[in-house]
Amino acid sequence: MPEDKKLRSVEAAVKHCYSTWADNYHRDYYTEKAAYPPVHQDLIRKLLVDAGVKRVLDAGCGPASMLRGLAGSGFELFGFDLTPEMVQEARRVMAPLGVLENHIWEGSVADPTAFRAPGRESAKFDAAICVGVFPHVPLELENAALANLHAAVRPGGLVAVEARNQLFALFTLNRYSQRFFLNDLVREEELFEGQDESVRRQVLDELGQRFRLDLPPVRGGKAGEPGYDEVLSRTHNPLVFREKFAAVGFRDVRVLFYHYHCLPPLCERLAPDLFRRGSLAMESPEDWRGYFMASAFVVTGIRA
Ligand SMILES: C[S@@+](CC[C@H](N)C(=O)[O-])C[C@H]1O[C@@H](n2cnc3c(N)ncnc32)[C@H](O)[C@@H]1O
Repeated sequence: MPEDKKLRSVEAAVKHCYSTWADNYHRDYYTEKAAYPPVHQDLIRKLLVDAGVKRVLDAGCGPASMLRGLAGSGFELFGFDLTPEMVQEARRVMAPLGVLENHIWEGSVADPTAFRAPGRESAKFDAAICVGVFPHVPLELENAALANLHAAVRPGGLVAVEARNQLFALFTLNRYSQRFFLNDLVREEELFEGQDESVRRQVLDELGQRFRLDLPPVRGGKAGEPGYDEVLSRTHNPLVFREKFAAVGFRDVRVLFYHYHCLPPLCERLAPDLFRRGSLAMESPEDWRGYFMASAFVVTGIRA
């Protein structure tokens, strides 16, 4: 499929998926009702405070989940999102916090023109954050989206992009692990090409027995729209993703892990309190165990 057609079809499905989420996304992931505390909020706030930035852009801001937590701390806040319902909700929430309506607009990270606030054509940002968005960016457009983030900040500006950790699949022992083994490590299509089909079958059966292929449950939509696992929702290899940051021109690239799991998630039901306590105790962005035991990470870089 040509790239622009593919992008349009991915973006249409993603917008549809998030169209019903504007009201409850923040409650589900950022309040005490969340299955796990939003530990990345403090991580990102600290990055911004330590960098001493003022003008901050949240690319893919959703219902202003990060922005509302940053209000009142001296930042000048801006955001855009692909999904109109999210933009509407973000404006509604941010207005009483003193953020003007035209600081929040509709746009896609794949589009360089989306990175300018309407009516403020040339001003660059001191920092850009992008959380929960890259899972929905097709591989073919990833470099362009990173280049757009790079171009959106001034020289010396900070960019922080969150992604789901693909290497966590080595710890989960479920369907994700099987996919990672076969597609990314073994590369079964190449390995078994021209081989007897029965060999391939036997190997796949043998490996299949090592993983819980019924887990995790597929997240469907609420009201007929496609759910999170039914639209493009990729994971990223932190070792590869950091190289991409460097290739786009960022310096001082760092990988910071969060949302640790002290045990594979399929053990959570056996000892839920221990699971939560043990996982929270592990939160440490630069611990090497994050490569395997954290489900998410943030890559940061400075525009040279
Ligand atoms: C998982 S939510 C995260 C929202 C917010 N950043 C947060 O951390 O709470 C993903 C958001 O990314 C938006 N999104 C997905 N693809 C996008 C794109 N190509 N450009 C801009 N926003 C996008 C969705 O509309 C949705 O609001």
